[in-house]
Amino acid sequence: MKHCEAAGLFPNEKVSERVFSYATAHTATLPQWLTEYHADICANEEKSNYMISTFQAQGMNWLGRLIGAKRVLEIGVYVGFSTMAWSYCVGPDGKVTGLEFSPQYADMARRAFQKFGIKNTEVVDGDALETLSDLQPSEPYDLIFIDANKSGYPSYLATILEKSRPGSSSRLLRPGGLVLADNILRRGLVADDSIDNPQAVKEKLERAEYWKGNDLEKLREFNDMMVKEERLDPFLLPLWDGVGCAKLLD
Ligand SMILES: C[S@@+](CC[C@H](N)C(=O)[O-])C[C@H]1O[C@@H](n2cnc3c(N)ncnc32)[C@H](O)[C@@H]1O
Repeated sequence: MKHCEAAGLFPNEKVSERVFSYATAHTATLPQWLTEYHADICANEEKSNYMISTFQAQGMNWLGRLIGAKRVLEIGVYVGFSTMAWSYCVGPDGKVTGLEFSPQYADMARRAFQKFGIKNTEVVDGDALETLSDLQPSEPYDLIFIDANKSGYPSYLATILEKSRPGSSSRLLRPGGLVLADNILRRGLVADDSIDNPQAVKEKLERAEYWKGNDLEKLREFNDMMVKEERLDPFLLPLWDGVGCAKLLD
């Protein structure tokens, strides 16, 4: 398993690979069928880099277990890898709800749930910018994982906060619940997209289309919201592509 997300942390890519393989082997594992599903998608799907790595799934599952998560909401399902990792985290008596606007990906995810006999997951079709506000969970979620369109992150967070007010009869996130958000550093570009950053220079040449969007500004806005919001206790984890973590205090 390649851990290219570690490049730069250690003296060279070879050492990074070995360190992350070692860390993977010394962290509570995922079931084999799940790592095999990840490998299968990596081998056969063009957009497989949408998925979090298996090691990131191990790390996030650990966070979920730490807070005893039984109810997880995932914004951005793709083909269901991380949804199934959350399913494993919460156990058969827990529940995972995913929001996904691509019917094709939602379908692939549902087929995977069926194939692996997973009964505690569901996918809500539609644009999460709308479906998130419409959710009325019978019990609040313990953990919400944001991993859809980066330009939507500030709006997702604003909705979560607004719909999780103390005293509200139907809240999205419970007090003490966690918000996790993937890709909040975008290969370091969110913190540094100057010419000092070779990745920025390379990307501006090779992915001109990407730079016309407002993802970086929106991710910066999101990261600022996470740290300025008094109701949140934030930690920006500069691992993988950057994971924003925050505990809801009230
Ligand atoms: C990075 S992928 C999710 C990967 C998945 N969490 C995993 O690690 O296995 C992002 C997904 O969000 C979906 N998406 C993007 N914008 C969305 C939106 N506005 N509403 C719902 N889903 C969206 C995309 O179709 C894509 O499947």
